[in-house]
Amino acid sequence: MAEPVPSAPAAPAAGRAAYAAVDLIRAKRDGRVLTASEIRWLIGAYLSGEVAEEQMSAMLMAIYFRGLEAGELRTWTSAMVDSGERLDLSGSSRPTVDKHSTGGVGDKVSLILAPLVAACGAAVPQLSGRGLGHTGGTLDKLESIPGWQATLPPADMAAILQRVGCVICAAGPGLAPADRRLYALRDVTGTVESIPLIASSIMSKKIAEGTAALVLDVKVGSGAFMRDIADARLLATTMVTLGSEHGVRTSALLTRMDTPLGRAVGNALEVEEAVATLAGKGPPDLVEVVLALAREMLALAGITADPAAVLTDGRALTRYRAMIAAQGGDPDASLPLAAHSRTVPAPASGWLRSLDARVVGVAAWRLGAGRARSQDTVSPTAGVLCLAKPGERVEAGQPLLELHADDDALAATVAGTLSGAFEIGSEPPEPVAPVIERIGE
Ligand code: URA
Repeated sequence: MAEPVPSAPAAPAAGRAAYAAVDLIRAKRDGRVLTASEIRWLIGAYLSGEVAEEQMSAMLMAIYFRGLEAGELRTWTSAMVDSGERLDLSGSSRPTVDKHSTGGVGDKVSLILAPLVAACGAAVPQLSGRGLGHTGGTLDKLESIPGWQATLPPADMAAILQRVGCVICAAGPGLAPADRRLYALRDVTGTVESIPLIASSIMSKKIAEGTAALVLDVKVGSGAFMRDIADARLLATTMVTLGSEHGVRTSALLTRMDTPLGRAVGNALEVEEAVATLAGKGPPDLVEVVLALAREMLALAGITADPAAVLTDGRALTRYRAMIAAQGGDPDASLPLAAHSRTVPAPASGWLRSLDARVVGVAAWRLGAGRARSQDTVSPTAGVLCLAKPGERVEAGQPLLELHADDDALAATVAGTLSGAFEIGSEPPEPVAPVIERIGE
């Protein structure tokens, strides 16, 4: 028989140290809704060391199973924002709008989108992270450009944003420090895959960043965090609500991540593809996702402009070059190349029906393009080029994938894992649009 859920105790008197963590853990374990006062105390006491790591671990697991209801989630997110500084971008002469992707294989969208939307008249303040696991991080990609610096003092960030219209840099330690601690703890306690915890983690950083508007690219499919459309929809809706509740105009696009986006997977390889896209020679799926996100960002920013024209006439590329140079990078420098490459041939003739994003992403990660632990370094050159994409005709023996690595033996080993990455059949697959749906007002 279900036990009655106990009601919340009265809030502690002002100035008195407060609740017992174990009571709050039991309350969440048993399904009671935590009060705003309890949540704020918990996060503050965790940061000050009063709540121990093992207690917060237990709380995260209780949240994993019990969830957070809407009011709890709003307070949890606000408490994470309030744990650090909130950037003030109100001095920007252009409307601010950012984009966040939940992560995918070959997702180099930010490198194209930030300068594109800036060239259309918005200011794009993109505080980014590094990759963990099989999806790459934007900063890792940009760091393959000689001289480019990810870390900027806040004043420099604001100055570049004002001068160039876009900046992509590392989030400083002062931004939502509670998330930094909680994310590291979730990573080692099996509690990353919780929709309220993911939503509050992502949105606390974006709210603290100070952008007025935000478009979320929620990826769905084998290579994404969310493999299931219903989960992706719930995550997107939860984040859009949190954004609105915190004064950030927010919408989301659900986009497919069953196959790598574009053809390049790996740091320098993706920069090269991003620059080709800015020069009007991008792969169609990548261009479609970039333009859909750009239209959404411009609509939220209240700007009427045609991003397709700005992408093809070179204005976005000029803005990209200015953004790279402003952070010490040389946009004309040759990108580093891997010492070794190997190809994986098609075993039969026919239509390429599928190419699994997760398998390709894991291969690129094993070649050195990604990291297993946050302190690992990544190879700028390692990765995979998809020489054929689903929907294309292939002939037996034709190279399908090209692996790039600093170590030939590693490339040979990883090549051997890729036979299950694709399916060739006698019929072409049904065409699928990369953008699935929009969520927002
Ligand atoms: N990215 C984040 O920033 N937080 C999560 O919890 C998951 C992905």
